[in-house]
Amino acid sequence: MKRPILIHPDPRLKKLCAAVPDLSDELRSLADDMLETMYDAPGIGLAAPQVGVMDRLIVMDCVKDEAEAPRPLIMFNPEIVASSDEMSVYEEGCLSIPDQYAEVKRPEAVDVRWIDRDGNEQTETFDGLWATCVQHEIDHLNGKLFIDYLGPMKRQLITRKMQKLKREQAKARA
Ligand code: NI
Repeated sequence: MKRPILIHPDPRLKKLCAAVPDLSDELRSLADDMLETMYDAPGIGLAAPQVGVMDRLIVMDCVKDEAEAPRPLIMFNPEIVASSDEMSVYEEGCLSIPDQYAEVKRPEAVDVRWIDRDGNEQTETFDGLWATCVQHEIDHLNGKLFIDYLGPMKRQLITRKMQKLKREQAKARA
């Protein structure tokens, strides 16, 4: 089932999310819903607070080539355990900040540890777009958005655009 995606600014996008203590069917179905919502958007990553759930859960799939098999990843309690000194710059966007993009500099590669859908611990090294995406999504769990890496002027400009978009959406629904 698809879930509505929160649009910035929203206080739920600024909060620290709680670690998931134990997996449950409810959490698994939330993860499945998030993947469905992400693919439908379409996007390459989604974090639970973006659908209003304050749990440490992210989903992603950075396979862009349609000829390649999809690789949906569900990560409970994801944690960056090591980061490369080497940095890279990607133009990032966010499903909670539609149609806005900006370059963000982050470590080029990261080692991530998480609990998968079956409750097993996984560790993997990500680089390139996957590394950017997993760092962006984990930031969401700490109440941080990609625009927080930008200067105040640029951040305010984007925030004002989003406030306008939300007013228009509210009007359209009324
Ligand atoms: Ni995002």
